[in-house]
Amino acid sequence: MSDPTQPTTGDDPTAPAGTPGPAGPAGPAGTSAGTSSGRAEPTGGRTLADPADEVTEINPDVDIAPEDIGVPVVSEGERLLEVDEVTLRFGGVVALNEVSFHINKGEILGLIGPNGAGKTTCFNVMTGVYQPTSGGVRYLGKPLGKRKKYQITKLGIARTFQNIRLFANMTALENVLVGVDAHHSTGVVSAMFRLPKHRREEGQGYARALELLTFMGLDGKADELARNLPYGDQRRLEIARALATSPQLLCLDEPAAGFNPAEKAKLMELIRTIRDQGYTVLLIEHDMKLVMGVTDRIVVLEFGRKIAEGSPAEIRDNPAVIAAYLGVDEEDAS
Ligand SMILES: Nc1ncnc2c1ncn2[C@@H]1O[C@H](COP(=O)(O)OP(=O)(O)O)[C@@H](O)[C@H]1O
Ligand SMILES: [Mg+2]
Repeated sequence: MSDPTQPTTGDDPTAPAGTPGPAGPAGPAGTSAGTSSGRAEPTGGRTLADPADEVTEINPDVDIAPEDIGVPVVSEGERLLEVDEVTLRFGGVVALNEVSFHINKGEILGLIGPNGAGKTTCFNVMTGVYQPTSGGVRYLGKPLGKRKKYQITKLGIARTFQNIRLFANMTALENVLVGVDAHHSTGVVSAMFRLPKHRREEGQGYARALELLTFMGLDGKADELARNLPYGDQRRLEIARALATSPQLLCLDEPAAGFNPAEKAKLMELIRTIRDQGYTVLLIEHDMKLVMGVTDRIVVLEFGRKIAEGSPAEIRDNPAVIAAYLGVDEEDAS
């Protein structure tokens, strides 16, 4: 269990070893991979960005459009995913309380709310980590049911984690190759045995992974171990790995956590570019102002309930959101 290149859950080729469920300690890959903690994910944890990683320039012109993974595609503006009256209880805690919302193909939907509101839990329900106590999720018009994480990845839903999860002792390129493999290999074992040498010879996946690294400004770091990358690069690498599965829906859980304002702004620009390249994005972000600038619509959770939904302007002016989510006066909210 100490080898972070050997996943233990066996059902999600894109999730690093020893990170069952939503658990995982905070911090960069070097400290998080390879553990097997079952603890609940700390909410709102922040890791300070390494100033050294502010230099990375992304390359938004690289074509990273999703590959055809044989999953039906809905048209722009149609419903891609629906969360239908989902309730999830953890003992006495109602993490999600009859939450319903949908995501349209081609949009950037923001999912916001204070710490503990249920945002990450929502991702966990959508990606097969947890089964709802009641209600369900429909994807491409069909219930996700009891599908496992790897099956959901193959259907085209990818995610990143609030607390970075990378294969710490694999290179940046190998981490992305794991994602590339996820949608056409039969399982983790074959994916793992084909890394890294065999994959290098299989030009297609290799080229795709390099493209994604280039897009994220990480091509110069392809051969560096994930754990040696600066914090910001690790965050971008996680996105590259998620994109490598050619998702129709990319779910980002606080991707800008720990970034300074300039880095955050840059990342939001990148997220917009990702959408423009043909992906649908569900973005969890704690920073209200940040979300306002990048999303098409916003869903607001508080204490497991949806308290508002609408355009950024509507959300900004919504008294319930101002009072309940922000806990500050209206002036600070704008
Ligand atoms: N595995 C778990 N076991 C018990 N409680 C959990 C677990 N995961 C989340 N929770 C609880 O569910 C609520 C929502 O958590 P979470 O979805 O992480 O919030 P957010 O991401 O919005 O900060 C919190 O009260 C949290 O403590
Ligand atoms: Mg969270």
